[in-house]
Formats: sequence, C-alpha cells, structure tokens
Amino acid sequence: MKNESFKIQGLDRKRVLNGSITISGAKNAVLKAIAASVLFDDTVTLSDVPYTEDVKKIIKLLEESGSKIDISKLNDGKIITIDNSSFKNTNLNKELTQSMRASVVLTGPILAKHGKVSFSVPGGCVIGSRPIDLFINGYKKMGVEIVEQDDTYIMTAKDGRLHGAEIFFNFQTVGGTETLMMAAVLAKGKTILKNCAMEPEIVSVAEYLNSCGAKINGAGTTTITIEGVDKLNSNGNIYNTLPDRIETGSYLILGALCADNLRVEKCNPQHIESLTSLLIESGIKLDIGKDYIEIKNNSITDLNKLKSFNVRTHEYPGFPTDLQSPIVTYLTQVNGESTVFESIFEDRFRFTQNLIKLGAKITNMNSREILIHGNSHLNNMGGENLDAFDIRAGFASIIASLVAKGESIINNVYYIDRGYENILENLNRLGAKIERIKN
Ligand code: EPU
Repeated sequence: MKNESFKIQGLDRKRVLNGSITISGAKNAVLKAIAASVLFDDTVTLSDVPYTEDVKKIIKLLEESGSKIDISKLNDGKIITIDNSSFKNTNLNKELTQSMRASVVLTGPILAKHGKVSFSVPGGCVIGSRPIDLFINGYKKMGVEIVEQDDTYIMTAKDGRLHGAEIFFNFQTVGGTETLMMAAVLAKGKTILKNCAMEPEIVSVAEYLNSCGAKINGAGTTTITIEGVDKLNSNGNIYNTLPDRIETGSYLILGALCADNLRVEKCNPQHIESLTSLLIESGIKLDIGKDYIEIKNNSITDLNKLKSFNVRTHEYPGFPTDLQSPIVTYLTQVNGESTVFESIFEDRFRFTQNLIKLGAKITNMNSREILIHGNSHLNNMGGENLDAFDIRAGFASIIASLVAKGESIINNVYYIDRGYENILENLNRLGAKIERIKN
C-alpha cells in the first residue's frame, strides 16, 4: 500500500466533471467514537463508519488489546460492533501508535476504565511538531502519575481511578478536548474543561455518550463540564457517524475548479459555511439544501473571472486547517492575489512545492503565510512526480493534477487512503481519468 501512486490525466482547466458524490461518515469523529467504546460495559454499535486506513488502524490497535470487533456488516449501513469485555492489554502497540496521531485519543478512555495505559509518542501526518503536553497536563490534574521511558509514556491513575479536575487548555485542541472529556466521563467527581475546541465531531461523540448515561454539558462551547458516572452502557443505542465536513469541502473545492455540475450529497451544509461563504463570494453558484450542496452550470463563468480572497485558518467554526491545501490550489486558479495564513500547524505549506512544480506562482511570506498570484495555467508536460505529503495535501495534489495540462503521478497515496474512502471510484464516476499504480 505504501508504495502506490495515482496516475491522473489533467483536464487543462476545462470544467467537465459531472455527477454526484455521497459523503462518508466523518473519519475524525468515528476514530473518537471507536476510542470511546472502551468506556462501555456492553457492546457498542457504530453506523456510517468510513472504512479508511486510519479506521482500520485504530480497530487493529483495539484488537491487539483484546477487543472483539465485528466488521461483517460494513456492507450493510457501514456498521461495526465493538465488544470490549475482553480488553486487557493496556500497553498499546508501538508501531501502530507511532503511525497515527489519533491513537493518543485512546489513552483517555483506557485510563478512565482501566486506570493505566502505556503508549509511544504518536506520529501521523507531517504538518508540525504536534506535542501532547496538553494531554499530559490534564491527566496530571486528574491524578495520573506519568513516567517517561525513552519514547514511551507509562501512565497510572494514582488511586486506581481518575478524579475530576479543572483544566484550562492553552490552545484549543480537538484531540485534547475529546480525550479529556472521555476520560472525565468515568472519573470520580466533576471535571471542568476550559478553552475547549468546538468542532462538530466533539459534539457528536458527547451526545452519544450522554444518550448512554454520561453527564456531559457544554460540548460545542468553550467550557465543557462533566459529572463522572460509575459505568456506561449503550443499551443498544447506535452511534451514527455524522457526515465528513472535510470530505464535503474537499469535493466542493475540486468541483469548483473541475466540474460543470456536481451534487455533494448526504452532507451537513451548516458544518462547512466557512468554505461555502467564500466560494459564493468568489463567484461559484451553489444551491445549498438541508443535506446537499450543488454546484450548477459552473463552466459558464471562466476561471479567471472568479474572485480571489484571503484565508486565515481557524478552529471551528472558522476556516479549517484541513481545507487549507485544497483552497490554496483553488486560489492559484482564480483572478488576483490572495494571502493564506496557517494558524493551527506550523509546517503545513510543504505541499506548495507540488503546485510550484506545475507552474503556480506562490511566495512564502514567512513560515505561516503565503502569497498566491492567481490565474496560473498549471501544466505537467514535463512529467513531474508529486508527493501526497499528508491526507489533505494529497487531495490538493489530485485537484492540481486535474486542473493541469498533461499527466501527473502522485506518490505516497497511502496518505490519501487514510482519509478518503473510494476516492478513485468517486472521481472516475464523475468523468475523471485516474488510476492506481503499484511502484
Ligand atoms: N497542540 C499542542 N499540544 C497538545 C495538543 C495540541 O501544542 O497537547 C497543538 C498542535 O500542535 C496544533 C494545535 O494544538 O498546533 C491544534 O491541534 P489539535 O490537537 O486540535 O489537533 P489534533 O486533535 O491532533 C485534529 C484532526 C486533524 C486536524 C486538527 C485541527 C483528528 C484525528 N485529527 O487533530 O485532522 O487538522 O484536529 O482541526 O481528529 C486530518 O484529518 O487530515 C487532520 C490532520
């Protein structure tokens, strides 16, 4: 898998793709819901599970610890069930934890339920240093003793059970908010988390836990209060994964540049207003319904008539860092200059090398900000190979390759497979010509 590439035929700025895309369940929600299953005494059922590489990995991590996970109903409502009654190994597999940042989220539920966990420093996409200090500070306040040995953290709840605490996050951290919120569900007493992230994925997991007996208040705001309970039972309640807002936004940006008509279905338009408002301002005509967004007769307006705009990435509900690379690609095509400021991760502009190889004009202002000169006619007649860099940069490279003239090869598409289900099938159905090749 790691050495596969995509071969993509460019459309030379013609907006000819047509059709519809059905959005999957959100990867970044289901990973947390799978982690949350550790808190339960009984079997947990999840639906609309996107079976991406990251999801396969977290399933494997749990299985290594003794969990029994049934994926036989994936073809039927994308359902999986998780039975953690024989979960016993609290030493998380080193290789798997190091290959996926989201593995750190498992530590909260494991500590809450089993009083101890050991794991290696998590890795994942190369987009910045991604420390875990905010998790560590929070755990210490909840009564956890932490020993660091080489690259492994050994954590033990001093009284055998976590206790409630008041925790202020110095940054709004998505994973930190989710993890400490889940840890607090089975802690003794009350936990107050302040300066929390407000992403819809956090709300979705909190609502599910509450439907099963947890006492979480304020998810979706900056202060979350959790009254610890003694146990959690699903009693057959199913976790329905909410639509993936980043997948929604990724296809909308791709459609804005490459499609005439594109209907993005089974999405939640309210979760992606930070993007749709900019696209509309830029001149893209969108029909926005309750659970769909449609780009209509897009090829009527020339690309160079679309307006540029400036972007600053921000925690939800602001413009998501995960759509920064696709939107930079968009801005290379429209009229005028724009600046993009990356406020969340300190190293998320590496992919611009790909765009520059294809002829985009981008100036680095500093490590956090770039200036884009629009209306570039990208071309890959020189046969440049592109690198996926990370999940979202990988998607941005697909957009750039489709817009460009000529054929492009994107290497390391393993990254793309981590976050986008059935991507080739989806795009080829719209009329693109993309194939997977083994190197
Ligand atoms: N941070 C710290 N210390 C910590 C935790 C975070 O300094 O202990 C910093 C990070 O280094 C970063 C900022 O806080 O600069 C925000 O990071 P956050 O913790 O919010 O990110 P995350 O939980 O690791 C999730 C998504 C990312 C997405 C970010 C921001 C998952 C599995 N991952 O990561 O998604 O970019 O939130 O929205 O939910 C992706 O899907 O491609 C992806 C990278």
